[in-house]
Amino acid sequence: MNENSIDESKDEVTEENDLDLSEITDESEDFTTDESEDSIADDSEDSTTEESDLGLRENLAKKMNIVLAGKARGRKTAKDVFDKDKVLEAVFDKSTVMILSRFINNGIISYVNGAIGAGKESQMYWAVDPSGQDLAVKIYLVTTSNFKKRYPYLIGDPRFTRIKRGTRSLVELWAKKEFRNLSKSFNFEIPCPEPITVVKNILIMKFVGVNGVPSPTLVESEVDYTDYEKTIEIISDLYQKAELVHADLSEYNIFKTENGPVVFDFGSAVDIRHPKTKEFLERDISNITRFFVKRGLTVDNPIDVFKRVTK
Ligand SMILES: Nc1ncnc2c1ncn2[C@@H]1O[C@H](COP(=O)(O)OP(=O)(O)O)[C@@H](O)[C@H]1O
Ligand SMILES: [Mg+2]
Repeated sequence: MNENSIDESKDEVTEENDLDLSEITDESEDFTTDESEDSIADDSEDSTTEESDLGLRENLAKKMNIVLAGKARGRKTAKDVFDKDKVLEAVFDKSTVMILSRFINNGIISYVNGAIGAGKESQMYWAVDPSGQDLAVKIYLVTTSNFKKRYPYLIGDPRFTRIKRGTRSLVELWAKKEFRNLSKSFNFEIPCPEPITVVKNILIMKFVGVNGVPSPTLVESEVDYTDYEKTIEIISDLYQKAELVHADLSEYNIFKTENGPVVFDFGSAVDIRHPKTKEFLERDISNITRFFVKRGLTVDNPIDVFKRVTK
């Protein structure tokens, strides 16, 4: 996980300019098929690549306790393998299945415990790591056509200058961008989910919530003035310490936890050198202001907040 570790150094422009998508592919990494001890005993031989793939996928299917894949669990007939395979492919494309298999083989996750939810562009899963810790697995859909609207959040960010064409490239870049934003924020101790790794279109982070149920977001919670203050503090620390603007901040992308607000969904966040920083920051502050006012609180003038944050 070295190249994607959360310990990324400062975002030097030069380093960032080097971000070529080919660098983040790591297909050369070994794919252990089913030699691992917890692999599924399969009656068939794994002599061909295709059969190895099937082994991997059965391994994954076996460990994915998702509703659809769960049906054939415990049985190992050829038909089951086929069915599970088909089901998995209906849910995820082949590459996604392979990456998930690798996460399992590498011990990053033990199993996927269920779906948390699906948006237009991503699906979120609850997974568990070998030590029993809950993880959130965000899988960006490669088939989406909505990605064009993300260009404004990429173009102009000095960290991302070499942007390849094609939906898959863009989706992978977006996942990578979310991971970098999350890592930077986390390193500056801004309350956010702890990032674990990103490979292609799959981002793994620590789970915020209990027993597979995410903490409620602000919109789902009772809120008070302290929540407002802490949210503004997050905006301010993001800007001043991490040099980021979230750019998609609202009551839907902030959890309310017992330790206060925790911000997430960092895909849109931009480096403050982005030309639209001012516009994005104003919008974030105005969204937050509007929400707390709607909840009956008396809050600061958003123009003053903007000045304070950017002073
Ligand atoms: N780290 C996490 N732990 C637990 N649940 C999460 C985590 N991150 C996101 N979620 C859940 O998944 C939902 C969608 O996540 P989000 O990152 O906002 O995706 P989208 O980009 O589709 O809006 C959130 O509303 C939240 O309920
Ligand atoms: Mg969101």
